[in-house]
Amino acid sequence: MPLQSNVDVPPATGKLGVLLPGMGAVGTTFIAGCLAIRKGLAKPIGSLTQMGTIRIGPRTDDNVPLIRDYVPLATLDDLVFGGWDVFEDDAYVAASRAGVLEGHLLEQLGDELRAIKPMTAVFEQAYVKNLHGNHIKPETSKWEQAQALDDDINRFAEENGCDRLVAVWCGSTEVYREPTAVHETLAAFEQGLKDSDPDIAPSQIYAYACLKRGIPYANGAPNLNLDTPALLELARQNGVPVTGKDFKTGQTLMKTILAPGFKARMLGVEGWYSTNILGNRDGEVLDDPESFKAKEVSKLGVLDTIFEPERNPDLYGDIAHVVRINYYPPRGDNKEGWDNIDIFGWLGYKMQIKVDFLCRDSILAAPLVLDLALFLDLAKRAGMSGVQEWLSFYWKSPQPVQPGIYPEHDIFIQLTKLKNTLRHLKGDEVITHVGAEYYD
Ligand SMILES: NC(=O)c1ccc[n+]([C@@H]2O[C@H](COP(=O)([O-])OP(=O)(O)OC[C@H]3O[C@@H](n4cnc5c(N)ncnc54)[C@H](O)[C@@H]3O)[C@@H](O)[C@H]2O)c1
Repeated sequence: MPLQSNVDVPPATGKLGVLLPGMGAVGTTFIAGCLAIRKGLAKPIGSLTQMGTIRIGPRTDDNVPLIRDYVPLATLDDLVFGGWDVFEDDAYVAASRAGVLEGHLLEQLGDELRAIKPMTAVFEQAYVKNLHGNHIKPETSKWEQAQALDDDINRFAEENGCDRLVAVWCGSTEVYREPTAVHETLAAFEQGLKDSDPDIAPSQIYAYACLKRGIPYANGAPNLNLDTPALLELARQNGVPVTGKDFKTGQTLMKTILAPGFKARMLGVEGWYSTNILGNRDGEVLDDPESFKAKEVSKLGVLDTIFEPERNPDLYGDIAHVVRINYYPPRGDNKEGWDNIDIFGWLGYKMQIKVDFLCRDSILAAPLVLDLALFLDLAKRAGMSGVQEWLSFYWKSPQPVQPGIYPEHDIFIQLTKLKNTLRHLKGDEVITHVGAEYYD
């Protein structure tokens, strides 16, 4: 269905519960960050919903409001946080363990963070081999696990007086799996839950439980989840917006910033070698080849859709694209992403670019969790459902709105699409950058 224009979006009144399956480094950096910003201890750097502006009308109008003043978004004061984890650590302990934020900041948020305790997880060892927690639901039937999650959600919403809920998967990357017959239709998936089909992953049970209750859902990890016909059928049936997958941070963020520039100038690329060292729990999980495979597939897809080698064979027809991730404990969450890019210019003359990004993974990911929660909540109030392609901006592996359409990876096109979607929703002119100046 085409996107409605000039939609009368109901205001974001009351409390918005943000549910996080997985309260590790990203999850707790997001929660602690929101609490710190709420107290005026820090600024929401990296968040488009909090700091971004949007031009409305021609440049001569000089009308450039903040996005959060332009569309009705929940405010940080309205947010309530909850989630699940396979470890029982409360958000203070988990954030301290993750080692992303400094102790003196966490101390100032101590009481609020300690009050956020994860609910018991739905977990299956086969899907995350390098993780050994014991804060796990006793139910063994996948159907009963889904019901138990539903009870959790109900209780959380009641205890916290939530008017609306959204969920963002911040759990570990599960092993790489192709969809099977159980993912084909909602009926097959529900039967699969009843049969505890081994092809249904824990992350899919969370998504099912949320979508069943009409809760918008985002998938921050690269594993198979909302990109299955069964879960999309459920999202459409219940009018729920969904988006994924794999937060675009660090090295892939740099790739989708640089690659469109090379392509714009018709510079050729012969090879792109990317390596990463990281030492957080995510790195430990990705040390398992099957979890790494899910990440590798997600990271490798980026360049092809930007460079379109089939349309530009002389420039990009033969790229050697290699991605490596190595678990290296001394680095903790402070990853190093190193890229060697072999490019060529006029007459085929070769050049090299080296990028060494000493980044902080969770610092880059936390504002994305915030934006996704607020935009998904907006989408739900605006009556939007199914895959939200305008949120591709946030993903390493954006989900296309229908199979067969290639996803857009160019971050600048993604941002234009996001802002034009907001303009369209409000009934303002979309900005095409075509002006009348040629005829003066
Ligand atoms: N940090 C980034 O920049 C970034 C970028 C892209 C994607 N991601 C993805 O985001 C996810 C979170 O990253 P992180 O750095 O916070 O990892 P992390 O290991 O610190 O946190 C993940 C948490 O999920 C929990 N978990 C695993 N399976 C679960 C289950 N079935 N139910 C509930 N909890 C479960 C783990 O116990 C852990 O606490 C990972 O999948 C990662 O690949 C992160």
